[in-house]
Amino acid sequence: MTTTIEDLKAREILDSRGQPTIEVICTTNYGHTATASVPAGASTGGHEAAELRDNDPKRFDGRGVLSVIAAVQGEIREALAGMPVAEQRAIDDRLVNLDGTDNKSRLGANAILGVSMAVARAGARAAEVPLYRYLGGDDSHRLPIPSFNVLNGGAHAAWQGADFQEYMAMPHGAAHFSDALRWATDIYRRLKDMLKEQGIGTGVGDEGGFAPTVQSNRQPLDWLLGAIENAGLRPGRDVSLAFDAAASELRPDHDYELSAEGRSLTADELIEYYEDLAADYPIRLLEDGLHEDDWAGWQRLNRQLGDRLTLVGDDIFVTQSAYIERGIHLKCANAVLIKLNQVGTVSETVDAVGLAHSAGWETMVSHRSGETTDDFIADLAVAVGSRYIKSGAPARGERVAKYNRLMAIEAELGARATFAGGEDQ
Ligand code: PGA
Ligand code: ZN
Repeated sequence: MTTTIEDLKAREILDSRGQPTIEVICTTNYGHTATASVPAGASTGGHEAAELRDNDPKRFDGRGVLSVIAAVQGEIREALAGMPVAEQRAIDDRLVNLDGTDNKSRLGANAILGVSMAVARAGARAAEVPLYRYLGGDDSHRLPIPSFNVLNGGAHAAWQGADFQEYMAMPHGAAHFSDALRWATDIYRRLKDMLKEQGIGTGVGDEGGFAPTVQSNRQPLDWLLGAIENAGLRPGRDVSLAFDAAASELRPDHDYELSAEGRSLTADELIEYYEDLAADYPIRLLEDGLHEDDWAGWQRLNRQLGDRLTLVGDDIFVTQSAYIERGIHLKCANAVLIKLNQVGTVSETVDAVGLAHSAGWETMVSHRSGETTDDFIADLAVAVGSRYIKSGAPARGERVAKYNRLMAIEAELGARATFAGGEDQ
């Protein structure tokens, strides 16, 4: 007999910022149970699928998700009960159609994604294969290059932090994923020592990276470079730098405001600023260099830097095929950030990756700044063959859950495991 969805339940749990989110539990007619939980962003793109909240000021300042739970246990459960758990695409299609809006705003992208992920896990349980192989097939054996956000700024950090949101270390020169992770912990410790020696606070931001006050937006790059060298690693050869400018957050009016430097730049001046940075530092990847609506600016950015840098679009593409298609047509970038909750179902996320790869673009699977200990994205990255993953610093439970899961996958694959970083050597 076919394994089908018997029941769907949801609960309110807390994310890493202490905000409520949902955990969904899917049960099959054979008694498999699988749970999944949904993350939340802070610097969200304007076109992301809509996350639903109760807006009841008496609970969690309006951010409760009881209405989301009601949708899962009511309308969604009724529509999906009895469907074969292996039919992920049919289930995701039904969820999209049931919602009926363009941005999943009726049932909530958080309700829909929690169900979609829990169903995928239940399907893997029923098939008795690990999630990465269930989603990606027997050929899924490549571990992504991790990018560690060790210095946090922008919307994820304190007052007077760096304007750019994420300064990341990317240990692509390691032989294995687990070595890359170990190197990252060395860099993180050296960085902490350096900041302490200079009398600088080592409190952390939302993604586990240090979040000090800075004199300029270059200062975190200098610290990061120093920490890599102090760890006995070679900048550029072993470990490159990556950063997420999250530029949509820098533009309340028109020009890009760099408060740490007391000046504003036009899009073209900001592109020049990046060009200088790329000349002075071993930077490999730049995410969200410009505002999500500035498609013409992104074209110029890609023309000027696309041959030297991996230019990743996050808020501009929001993991949605229609925007990625437009970006490919306009030659706006050469890589896409992949976040499940920007689009809202597992199938649409897999499609977004497939579209990017078919154009020869790279992908980077990503956590959100508000996370849970769910490690789904680790399996997803291996399943879709993503070259990159980012899940914050190599510290804090909700961040390392993903990295630890990737180490477990690497160990399970044994000699079959490959590391995407090895391809650069
Ligand atoms: P967010 O940040 O989860 O707050 O959107 C992550 C990112 O911008 O990449
Ligand atoms: Zn981003």
